Amino acid sequence: MSHASPPTSPQTWSQRFETALHPVIATFNASIGFDIALIEYDLTGSIAHAQMLGHTGIISPAEAEQLVQGLEQIRQEYRQGQFQPGIEAEDVHFAVERRLTELVGNVGKKLHTARSRNDQVGTDTRLYLRDQVRQIQTQLLEFQKTLLDLAAQQVETLIPGYTHLQRAQPLSLAHHLMAYVEMVQRDWERLEDGYKRLNTSPLGCGALAGTSFPIDRVYSANLLGFDRIYTNSLDGVSDRDFAVEFLCAASLIMVHLSRLSEEVILWASEEFGFVTLRDSCATGSSIMPQKKNPDVPELVRGKTGRVFGHLQALLVLMKGLPLAYNKDLQEDKEALFDAVNTVKSCLAAMTILFQEGLEFRTERLAAAVESDFSNATDVADYLAAKGVPFREAYNLVGKVVKTSLAQGKLLKDLTLDEWQALHPAFAEDIYAAIAPRQVVAARNSLGGTGFEQVRQAIATAQERNHTLLAQAHTLLAQTGRLS
Ligand code: ARG
Repeated sequence: MSHASPPTSPQTWSQRFETALHPVIATFNASIGFDIALIEYDLTGSIAHAQMLGHTGIISPAEAEQLVQGLEQIRQEYRQGQFQPGIEAEDVHFAVERRLTELVGNVGKKLHTARSRNDQVGTDTRLYLRDQVRQIQTQLLEFQKTLLDLAAQQVETLIPGYTHLQRAQPLSLAHHLMAYVEMVQRDWERLEDGYKRLNTSPLGCGALAGTSFPIDRVYSANLLGFDRIYTNSLDGVSDRDFAVEFLCAASLIMVHLSRLSEEVILWASEEFGFVTLRDSCATGSSIMPQKKNPDVPELVRGKTGRVFGHLQALLVLMKGLPLAYNKDLQEDKEALFDAVNTVKSCLAAMTILFQEGLEFRTERLAAAVESDFSNATDVADYLAAKGVPFREAYNLVGKVVKTSLAQGKLLKDLTLDEWQALHPAFAEDIYAAIAPRQVVAARNSLGGTGFEQVRQAIATAQERNHTLLAQAHTLLAQTGRLS
């Protein structure tokens, strides 16, 4: 069906097309509303492409220089807020090419020689994500450092440890925090590993089949800092594994932040009472004046779902796509952008929360580990160490827990006679053995919560964090933050 309204945009397509796009379809088709976020990367990619065209003699060196100057000028215009293309441009790639031709004249029309928007958008997206991954890795290390600083102060603070959310065995609070330090380390490593595949250049794959021009793909890849090039042009323009891998890594970052958030929310409740939220990181209620709400961890927990959603969306997007480029791929961007922004904002907020937002209520924590049966395993271990078979010891302690509970007593309240009536191997040293501090200190097996182990774990992690963070800062200073 034809429509009466006049063409809304100058002819973008070849002379094959007689009428302009229906305005609703034009809007539907356009990605400029969101892919403008790629503009700096699009300019950088185009500059490398123009330089390659000049280097290989596909265009003259003077023409290449004109293109580069024009593209740099667009960068300035964009940074100064003077370049704001609307949907008539369809996408950021057309917007830049059109502005370039306005600026440098007909030579601007040579930029797209030996290139397609398919390899172009793939290049832009990888340049963008590369930059974002480096920023997120740095944020992860900064968050890890925050957890480490806190852990270093809390080695001797005890906190109940749970399994099934039932009191299990007491822990060093630092050991609890160090579990997250390890998770964050794996998050960093996962991004580092994915970076190897992410940093591969599709530029020069053309629309799908390569090009008849004598291009030099390695030259442009080197200019852009890519480590390698896609060796199959069809794969190069249609691969989005790097985006899926990133969203997997991002999802796991969110899983970890969300678990930690859930713990803070529990700890801040009246029922647990393990932490108080400081005013700079807590919010009030519009109706209940007594309330102090843990909005930060709640939002982090809540935002986790949207990152998982983006991963799911991209997997479904890819699963039925025949080779090579399909317009469906335009849908990868908003998923990536939102996941990147969500992860970055959550890491920033959680880092501040752990830097200054939490006050551990050490007296409540101390009272908590004093007032339960979380030292029951240690009574069994005590007997086992004296030669009583562990299972027999375990059954005996089960019995004494039952009678103590019925009498409203704790294990530390039993008299030595009562202990010895249970088993003659008990002696005066049972009291020291079941004191919470000793219970924690004794678990000095490799990777355990014993203070000695925890101190070593902190020292090792601090050294690793220090080295990686210094490298990350140097890298960011060299490459600069594009956005
Ligand atoms: N805006 C498009 C995208 O994001 C650019 C590539 C368009 N390619 C094409 N053959 N229509 O995927």
